[in-house]
Amino acid sequence: MRPRNRFPLLFVVFLACTATACRPAPVAPADAAASPAAGPADSVASDALLAHGEYIVRIGGCNDCHTPGYAQRGGDVPKDEWLTGSPLGYHGPWGTTYASNLRLTIANLDEAQWLAYTANLHTRPIMPDFMLRAMREHDRRAIHRFVRSLGAAGRPAPAALPPGQLPPPPYFELVAPAPGAPRPERQQAAGGQVPVL
Ligand code: HEC
Repeated sequence: MRPRNRFPLLFVVFLACTATACRPAPVAPADAAASPAAGPADSVASDALLAHGEYIVRIGGCNDCHTPGYAQRGGDVPKDEWLTGSPLGYHGPWGTTYASNLRLTIANLDEAQWLAYTANLHTRPIMPDFMLRAMREHDRRAIHRFVRSLGAAGRPAPAALPPGQLPPPPYFELVAPAPGAPRPERQQAAGGQVPVL
């Protein structure tokens, strides 16, 4: 019998709470002192943008290349090391490129500059620049907000090398098929070795 009677009582308490007394007091935004005009709604929106930026950086693969040792450490890298650029070279017909230090890039660009830059970004391989060009403005804004919040850190990544120059290790090498070479699937059909590409 006892448990049965508890529900109406809980219901009454719930009704009383929704009326007025138990309504939570508005939470003061953490940065209210810094910007007196910002209200709680602005703070929530800003936190959401920050969290979204972190998500995009994590899921969009930026760390895979721009954070040193990210893949080797299974993604277990503290955020203060994120996106500080990598000494791992990507060597191919385009020369050798290095994933840049985005902490420094973004520290030097305000939001409007970053949005204009990334909407039109054209780099050498293996940066998937088409991914940034296709990304919604909201997502690119979130990346800027998040990376800015980490602050500038580290040194610039090594400068790119021109085609034909062998980089010092470590580097990945892309071996493109020679012009006119048979296509991999034809070789496979003939029972030959399938090249990596
Ligand atoms: C597969 C590896 C790879 C991934 C994934 C990748 N990048 Fe890059 N990124 C590079 C390389 C390599 C360069 C240097 C290209 C060059 O020198 O032309 C570069 C260059 C850039 C540049 C231009 C250089 C600069 O600092 O201004 C930007 C901006 C950039 N990446 C942003 C991003 C963002 C944001 C992400 C995630 C959404 C990302 N990249 C994902 C490898 C990668």
